[in-house]
Amino acid sequence: MTSVGPHRELATPVPMSPLVSSMRAAVAALAAAGVASPRSDAEELAAYVTGEPRRRLAPTATMTPADLERFAELVARRVARVPLQHLVGTVGFRYLTLAVGPGVFIPRPETETVVGWALDAVRTAGWTRPICVDLCTGSGAIALALAQELPGARVHAVERDPGALAWAARNIAAQGFTDADGRVILHHADVGIEPAGCGLGDGREPVATVATVARELAGLFGRVDLVVSNPPYLWDDERDLVEPEVGKHDPPAALWAGPDGLAGVRAVAQVAGGLLRDGGQLVIEHSDRHGLAAPALLHALDCWDDVRDHPDLAGRARFVSASRRPRTGPETGR
Ligand SMILES: C[S@@+](CC[C@H](N)C(=O)[O-])C[C@H]1O[C@@H](n2cnc3c(N)ncnc32)[C@H](O)[C@@H]1O
Repeated sequence: MTSVGPHRELATPVPMSPLVSSMRAAVAALAAAGVASPRSDAEELAAYVTGEPRRRLAPTATMTPADLERFAELVARRVARVPLQHLVGTVGFRYLTLAVGPGVFIPRPETETVVGWALDAVRTAGWTRPICVDLCTGSGAIALALAQELPGARVHAVERDPGALAWAARNIAAQGFTDADGRVILHHADVGIEPAGCGLGDGREPVATVATVARELAGLFGRVDLVVSNPPYLWDDERDLVEPEVGKHDPPAALWAGPDGLAGVRAVAQVAGGLLRDGGQLVIEHSDRHGLAAPALLHALDCWDDVRDHPDLAGRARFVSASRRPRTGPETGR
């Protein structure tokens, strides 16, 4: 035993309560509230409160009264459909743990598949020092995954919303990327999603967006190897269909993309057509309702070759890829 000096006081033992009954009540309350994965969420919250990894929470686990109270508070907020990730403050994305909370879109597992495809494309092409752009970066998830998994890459992350931008800056710093190393460069800029595509969803008028990305990324036009984007892509008619975690907690500008859900895809495809060098790769995530419309949109823009749509792990149409057709004349693409 280590010595703690002459005035050591004997610690009063804290009474411990079995977790099992609180857990059972939590799972029942979460299920009744319509939470899709009640057991998993209850275990995540218990793990968060105790600081134990979820896999090590034994059926016989106990909690202090303070922890039990904290657990009950968090379960009540989850019952009110606050996203789990907001309660624990983080989300896993590929090999990253990212900070998230109110004001930023929570990265989704399907976007990991999009990034996986983009990484494969870069590796297959043999690009060892690619210039990459993540349009609509939100938390910085795509940009940071590219930078982490492509050690030679330089990644530009673009976001319009100041709130999301602050989360991206925080995540970039937390991963150890700095202005000095220039590996991940954050840009406050607008890709020019049409007004109908960025309604606030709360009765206020849509925000008119003015594309500033051409000015902000001027030096990159025609030089970029890879553009990846997960833009807003929900249809206006889905407003009453989304889960409360989405409709009430993801920022509206991250979700809504006009009557056909394509305002974001359209803007990104146009900006990417200017940014990419000939033969550069574009990957855009879209709604599972866009399996035909997103490729058709790229074909109509007339600057893309090898347009292909791809399913996610659940087999739903999820993202479109294309290669920048070689420019033939004095076209700038802006
Ligand atoms: C669906 S979220 C995706 C965030 C992140 N890429 C991810 O996958 O988790 C879309 C993001 O686009 C941003 N956004 C919306 N309109 C924009 C615009 N006109 N210019 C730039 N970013 C925009 C939103 O603020 C939001 O962060």
